[in-house]
Amino acid sequence: MRALTGLLVAAVLTACVPAPPAGPEVKFVLGVSQANTTEPWRLSVIADIQKEAATIPGLRVVVTDAADSVLKQAQDLDHLLGLGCDLLIVSPAEADGLRQAVDRAYERVPVIVIDRAVEGYNYSLYLGPDNRRIGREAGKYVSALLGKKGGRVLEVLGRRDSPPSLDRSRGFREGLADRPDTVLFNRVEADWLQDKAEDVLTPVFASKERVDVVFAQNDAMAYGAWLAARKAGRQGVPILGIDGLAGPEGGLSLVQKGIFAATFNVPTGGKEAVDYALDILNKVEGIPKKIILRTSIVTREVPNLPEFVTPPAPRPGVRPRLGFAQVGAESVWRQTNTESIRQAADKAGVDLLFDPGDQTQARQIAAIRSFIQQKVDVIAFSPIVEHGWDQVLTEARAAGIPVILTDRRLDTVDPSLWLTYIGSDFEEEGRRAAAWVAARFPSGPERGIVEIRGTEGSSPAVDRALGFREVLGTNPKFSIVASLPGDFTREGGRRVMADYLRSPHAPFQILFAHNDDMALGAIESLKAAGLKPGSDVMVVSVDAIRQAFEAMVRGELNCTVECTPLLGPQLMKILADFLKGKTLPWQYISSEQVFPAETAKQTIEGRKY
Ligand code: AHR
Repeated sequence: MRALTGLLVAAVLTACVPAPPAGPEVKFVLGVSQANTTEPWRLSVIADIQKEAATIPGLRVVVTDAADSVLKQAQDLDHLLGLGCDLLIVSPAEADGLRQAVDRAYERVPVIVIDRAVEGYNYSLYLGPDNRRIGREAGKYVSALLGKKGGRVLEVLGRRDSPPSLDRSRGFREGLADRPDTVLFNRVEADWLQDKAEDVLTPVFASKERVDVVFAQNDAMAYGAWLAARKAGRQGVPILGIDGLAGPEGGLSLVQKGIFAATFNVPTGGKEAVDYALDILNKVEGIPKKIILRTSIVTREVPNLPEFVTPPAPRPGVRPRLGFAQVGAESVWRQTNTESIRQAADKAGVDLLFDPGDQTQARQIAAIRSFIQQKVDVIAFSPIVEHGWDQVLTEARAAGIPVILTDRRLDTVDPSLWLTYIGSDFEEEGRRAAAWVAARFPSGPERGIVEIRGTEGSSPAVDRALGFREVLGTNPKFSIVASLPGDFTREGGRRVMADYLRSPHAPFQILFAHNDDMALGAIESLKAAGLKPGSDVMVVSVDAIRQAFEAMVRGELNCTVECTPLLGPQLMKILADFLKGKTLPWQYISSEQVFPAETAKQTIEGRKY
């Protein structure tokens, strides 16, 4: 808590922010470091932060403008710390360049990074959209727009090598992947700026070159593209932007006027950053590591986000009722997860209707139906597999009961059938396991990898496999010689490894198991076959349960990638936020680390599961 005066706050260099009005005693000061105040998007972020902060008594905001210089932004962070800010909200000019400055600041106060993630995890919370997904949806929209005949697409990029630009491009390509008839014939860079887009595109439109669609990575550049096309008398070309800002010049109104074919509604994260800043400063339990904001495409026909279920009216003194459909008890991870949810519900005063599950989708569907019948306030569940939920979720929606996904993800035709997701980034876990393998064997002969997969069709199994291959798939030093089904159980890991070793098989030096339980089972089989796990075969797995640390201390397991089952407190916080009427973000991603065997002895005592 601070007793800073309005005078101090007003004294700070703020490019666009008036001094705050005198008010009640200042409780917290938030320092906001913005990369520039020239892009409309960046200005909207500041405006949203200030609007939200103005609703909270005792909160002050100090804003600095880095004028697009990483060096200046690093100085700004020091400056804000020098002023005694309690927490920093940083919208980086560049992801990599600012990393050290963010690290330094985080040693002193909590730091929320918005919009562009800085590499690594040295901050309290990241808030932003899923840019790859936005790009993918843009690609699909363009594909539908061009229809059967395909066409020639021009892409207008933001700043070279900036993460949102890379991710939007990558997603866009994925969205167009099945369209060989559609050519991305030109990519120009315009630094996110309208004027620059107009300048670089003027000669393109003036030439005779055919352009069927323009996809610009933000609305400002999309508008610049439209101006360039108009100058050349080529107004009919459909243009897509991203941002969906309000106001007469914003993307939403440009869609309504028919200037853009589409844009994406992307919340700035300003409001959420302030709300989470307060939660962090007030030491509220259940803060995730990353929050992914909900985005949606906006066209003239579909102008707004789909309607989500509204929270029930407040009922003071009445305990909320939460129905939870668990997967089963297949692993130590799952048992810990169950315990975490039960304990957190108890602590939060929530009536929990808990179905333990039996590793089948049918049982989970039956449990959800029974929660609907019992008229719970909210249903939460970990979908055992990704597909096959549309019907039961439609029934929940018809009953007006919102559904929260925890731990596992699902695929539905209508993504608005569920409210929000809390859990891990499984693809990232796969990448981390692969990155450990690549770093462990920087040189030497080609090495064979055996993979033991989790439950078929479950999101952790699908995504960990994807992430692992993303990093190692094109590396000629490694080849996946077998991929075996282990169903996330110890017995599954033991059995498939024993069978594999018994039958003729390709040699392998590395085992990647999708969870620790399967790795521990497989280790037993390796030993039974006279092999030394940990040296003859290097073993890497996911979860970071205590028994994996014990195996690392024994020298039998080489690395475990954390996937936290301790989701109970987060789930209860989200439930409470929802019941208070807060709009929930799209996804909450947990904080996780990688634990190589060398760190096991020091860390084992602190493990909570
Ligand atoms: O969905 C998370 C996975 O499910 C864990 O990694 C695994 O151990 C569990 O059974």
